Amino acid sequence: MLVLGLETSCDETGVALYDSERGLLADALFSQIDLHRVYGGVVPELASRDHVKRMLPLIRQVLDEAGKQASDIDALAYTAGPGLVGALLVGASCAQALAFAWGVPAVGVHHMEGHLLAPMLEEQPPAFPFVALLVSGGHTQLVRVDGIGQYQLLGESLDDAAGEAFDKTAKLMGLNYPGGPEIAKLAEQGTPGRFVFPRPMTDRPGLDFSFSGLKTFALNTWQQCRDNGDDLDQARRDIALAFQQAVVETLTIKCKRALKQSGLKSLVIAGGVSANKALREHLEGMLGEMKGKVFYARPRFCTDNGAMIAYAGCQRLLAGQHEDLAIKVQARWPMESLPAL
Ligand SMILES: Nc1ncnc2c1ncn2[C@@H]1O[C@H](COP(=O)(O)OP(=O)(O)OP(=O)(O)O)[C@@H](O)[C@H]1O
Ligand SMILES: [Mg+2]
Repeated sequence: MLVLGLETSCDETGVALYDSERGLLADALFSQIDLHRVYGGVVPELASRDHVKRMLPLIRQVLDEAGKQASDIDALAYTAGPGLVGALLVGASCAQALAFAWGVPAVGVHHMEGHLLAPMLEEQPPAFPFVALLVSGGHTQLVRVDGIGQYQLLGESLDDAAGEAFDKTAKLMGLNYPGGPEIAKLAEQGTPGRFVFPRPMTDRPGLDFSFSGLKTFALNTWQQCRDNGDDLDQARRDIALAFQQAVVETLTIKCKRALKQSGLKSLVIAGGVSANKALREHLEGMLGEMKGKVFYARPRFCTDNGAMIAYAGCQRLLAGQHEDLAIKVQARWPMESLPAL
């Protein structure tokens, strides 16, 4: 089955062609980061309008790259939520219109299920069951995964998502959006031990997270450095390192707890923050000690992309799922409500 996948939940237009027999044939992405950078975050209306502009050229591009024609496509998959409603509607209406015109089915995909399954596109995919850590711009969740659609939420962030905390901490130090990669780069030149940030909610039982306090801690530290007349370039590097270490160690402690509780030894990390090198190294160290394994996608499939949507949609289409003609999207959509395959 050849599936055309469309991702438009936020500020990236992603398009990909996935073949159930041959794997991923082509994928293309247009990131709107430059469009939103001057505002320090995503402007929903600008995002929707830009998806409209990018979608058809990207579809033509993946068809050309794969040497395929519209008539070869067996089905469409599009992100139906969670995300920005206007942005989601662009992908949903485009997919439904093409599906109707081409006489093929279309399926709406849960964006976080897409992230969760992205490591399945790699050469050594994880086998069920596993624990998944979803760490993106809008989500921080620990999930027990027994199969596609068999999700049990073990814990989640009570306030900011991990990626959001990276972005806000970067912004308060005058760094560019998105802040995750900026902080990661600066942290490489940080002075170990100059600042020590708290590891929120690790001293009590449970698998929930809280990251908003870290951002406040970063703000106070930054203001202190300014008041003291410190070298601000070095202060940025040192705060970046202390902040990243706190996030990484907090996530690692909770992942270890989740694995122990569930008796599993496979951990999948997915979403934009799973591209973070320090996080990968730390988790690999922890899983190494447990004689387990950590799985993640190549960096460009950690952040939003069409490939994960084409893959997740393909699995659901193969199981016989598809939508009626109504164009439905959901800004909020709990992943546990998805049907099991
Ligand atoms: N190397 C990195 N280190 C830390 N954070 C990173 C890194 N690369 C990207 N990020 C963060 O990942 C986030 C973007 O990831 P993603 O595209 O998965 O999120 P989103 O789609 O905005 O949110 P969601 O998937 O929850 O709707 C941003 O917050 C960004 O700062
Ligand atoms: Mg995302």
